[in-house]
Amino acid sequence: MRDLETFIAGLPKAELHLHIEGSLEPELMFELARRNNVALPFGSVDEVRAAYAFSNLQDFLDIYYQGAAVLLTQQDFHDLAMAYFRRAAADGVRHAEIFFDPQTHTARGVPFAVVADGLLSAMAEAEADLGVTSKLILCFLRHLSEDEALATLDEATPYLDRLCGVGLDSSEIGHPPAKFARVFAAARERGLRLVCHAGEEGPPAYVWEALDVLAVDRIDHGNRSLEDEALVRRLVDLGMTLTVCPLSNLKLCVVNDLSAHPLKRMLDLGLTVTINSDDPAYFGGYVGENWLQTARALSLTEADLLTLARNSFTGSFLSPDEAAPHLAAIDALAAK
Ligand code: HPA
Ligand code: ZN
Repeated sequence: MRDLETFIAGLPKAELHLHIEGSLEPELMFELARRNNVALPFGSVDEVRAAYAFSNLQDFLDIYYQGAAVLLTQQDFHDLAMAYFRRAAADGVRHAEIFFDPQTHTARGVPFAVVADGLLSAMAEAEADLGVTSKLILCFLRHLSEDEALATLDEATPYLDRLCGVGLDSSEIGHPPAKFARVFAAARERGLRLVCHAGEEGPPAYVWEALDVLAVDRIDHGNRSLEDEALVRRLVDLGMTLTVCPLSNLKLCVVNDLSAHPLKRMLDLGLTVTINSDDPAYFGGYVGENWLQTARALSLTEADLLTLARNSFTGSFLSPDEAAPHLAAIDALAAK
């Protein structure tokens, strides 16, 4: 294998599982808190980082929603997203499909338009200045009701032409995908693509529901699918893309050690997996670091890495014509 770090950095990649609020670095958190006169429960950047020790998803979510409280203006959302795009570009990300959680912000009195306009202006700037294209996916918070999700979809109506899809995130256990059957059907009718966090902490039954009840186009995480052979067969038959997040899985104790991460097993089973960063400011690394640490821990081969890079584009919501130049660039690297 060529020098691993150089090889990974040079591979064109798409990131398909990134919560933009989870890219809020402690330094920017403090800057925005000052700018907006918001009190933080932390005295310093070091204190914030020290608080990032989680034993499960809920531990993380509690602190993640607290951090998001500094985001108030359109400029804040623009600055947040630009900081992410700069990091992603440096890691060889050529395309990103980013999640945002409007309900986290509208619940604090921040209008939907402020959030969406700030993110969309950063997306345009990232394409013009960094050559990184992107799409926006609205996530519903699954710990809230389906009626609240339906109201959020209504609020998004003026933005439907600039949204790519909807997703489902937040506390998984006790909030199965079927709880959101109507709002996902409504989103599909409006021409949106569908994704859903499933099988991160929740059982294989939640992945089945995401497929059979919600009819999703992509599964976010999906790790626990491996507990169910028939489910693995179904995912392979569908060619369903799973957006796996190794450092997130480590920090949220979904796995005890990266060397025990199921990603290599998933590849060997024929599952269409991708590597993503989830909430990089909280989990210790952006997409490049996820690739590098996973490749080392699981002794991924050059062929594995090429497959992962191809999967990130074939599993994206880019059209075949849009994905083609990226796939050609990966083929060119493979032939070298
Ligand atoms: N899982 C569920 N909800 C989330 C996550 C996650 O990893 N990150 C942000 N919201
Ligand atoms: Zn996630």
